[in-house]
Amino acid sequence: MGGRVLSVASECVPLVKTGGLADVVGALPGALAAAGWDMRVLLPAYRALRAQATDWPVVWEEGDLWGGPGRVLAGTVQGLHLLLLDAPHLYDREGGPYSSLQGEHPDNAIRFAALSWIAARIAREGLADWKPDVLHAHDWQAGLAPAYLAYHGSGGCKSVITIHNIAFQGWAPGHMLGILRLPGHAFHPDALEYYGGISSLKAGLMTADWITTVSPTYAAELMREEFGMGLQGVIATRSRVVSGILNGVDTALWDPMREQPAFGPKAMAGKSAARARLCEEFGLEVPGPLAIVVSRLTDQKGIDLLPQLMPDFILGGGGLIVLGSGDPGMEGAMRHLADRFPGRVAVRIGYDEGLSRRLFAGADAVLVPSRFEPCGLTQMYGLRYGTLPVVSLVGGLADTVIGASPATLAAGVATGVTFHPVDALAFGQALQKLLDLYRQPKLWARLRANAMAHPVGWESSAAAYAGLYERLTA
Ligand code: ADP
Ligand code: GLC
Repeated sequence: MGGRVLSVASECVPLVKTGGLADVVGALPGALAAAGWDMRVLLPAYRALRAQATDWPVVWEEGDLWGGPGRVLAGTVQGLHLLLLDAPHLYDREGGPYSSLQGEHPDNAIRFAALSWIAARIAREGLADWKPDVLHAHDWQAGLAPAYLAYHGSGGCKSVITIHNIAFQGWAPGHMLGILRLPGHAFHPDALEYYGGISSLKAGLMTADWITTVSPTYAAELMREEFGMGLQGVIATRSRVVSGILNGVDTALWDPMREQPAFGPKAMAGKSAARARLCEEFGLEVPGPLAIVVSRLTDQKGIDLLPQLMPDFILGGGGLIVLGSGDPGMEGAMRHLADRFPGRVAVRIGYDEGLSRRLFAGADAVLVPSRFEPCGLTQMYGLRYGTLPVVSLVGGLADTVIGASPATLAAGVATGVTFHPVDALAFGQALQKLLDLYRQPKLWARLRANAMAHPVGWESSAAAYAGLYERLTA
């Protein structure tokens, strides 16, 4: 079997990334190729991308794309087949995909409506030599694509929308309905009306043929008030077409045998050497477990709980390196921690992929105390690198880490430390458990071996996506 899929998103590794969405969008085409699915990824031609595509052929032209013309350029980067929507009036700007130094772009609703509009047109009409069988939309930025297929004709193309993070819903005021090329009858609570406005994520959820999210636990959580963020009812009404498919990680890229020094389950000396180097680089001396955080510093991630827990963790011998950026208040709190505990805590504010790999290679544990986590990738890097994940039991964290308990240790299946609820008490107890496990070298080695044996690649999830596409197009 197999067929053609047009994947539509606002981020994609290796071209543009602010979070795990980009990793997943970039990994899916490769993961699905083996099952016979030919996937092309449609992205906005942001300024940096546009510069890379100057000699790419034009495969689509659009006269009127909200205030200017647009065209689609086709090209290949590192084996990925890409379609870039070049519309300079919308995307050729300073800054990241969603904002400039002055803040969020005020016309984001239109910028991503344009992306979705072109996606739907290509899905419906096809390019000269390539017509997709399935349109796969990711998050709110592509949410209007299934809606345009539903309201303006699908041309036989099926649609899937994947929720990577329901915290972002793409809200626009109701008076924009016509501007966004949506019909009046769609402005209804059973369609895309949302608290008096329009939510492009809700539009996608109401109109797509299928809805997926990035872990089975998050799929169930999303139907509950604590996690649905206002859309729980929408998802519950469509529960028959909702499934959770766990993300994988790129095991060729995230491979301890490719690190310097290399290590693997049967040769852990390289990991000790990596740890020693890391401590030297950051001026740390840590007798107990060296923990890391590699994360966006936002409320979602629960990192704000760390300052009150650090004194006891340090007292027990622990150390911490934080790599991240985000909320200025949280960045400040992290810097303050490093000042308070010199030699035990180090903080690097910023985004640094190379450093993140060295952190996973050298550290003993990775902390992911998220309040909600659709899937999460860093706990999986942790498993792969024998860097034990300490995670809250939510979303994909609950689906990927088996917490150490007398029963799981006896059964030999534990791969990390888990806690619930997400508060200082439970997280503090988890950190104490980590200190305690680290004091038992044989047990620690066993946990580490279990973690490294846990499969985190794309194989089974790619099969699940392929199965879904096949059912939709059968
Ligand atoms: P989210 O998408 O919610 O941010 P994920 O765990 O799914 O969370 O994905 C985050 C991705 O971004 C991972 O690949 C992680 O390693 C990476 N990342 C986050 N912050 C940094 C940073 N400061 N430097 C390097 N990589 C980072
Ligand atoms: C989102 C989620 C994260 C998930 C990623 C990729 O950013 O916050 O949990 O891993 O998308 O699906």
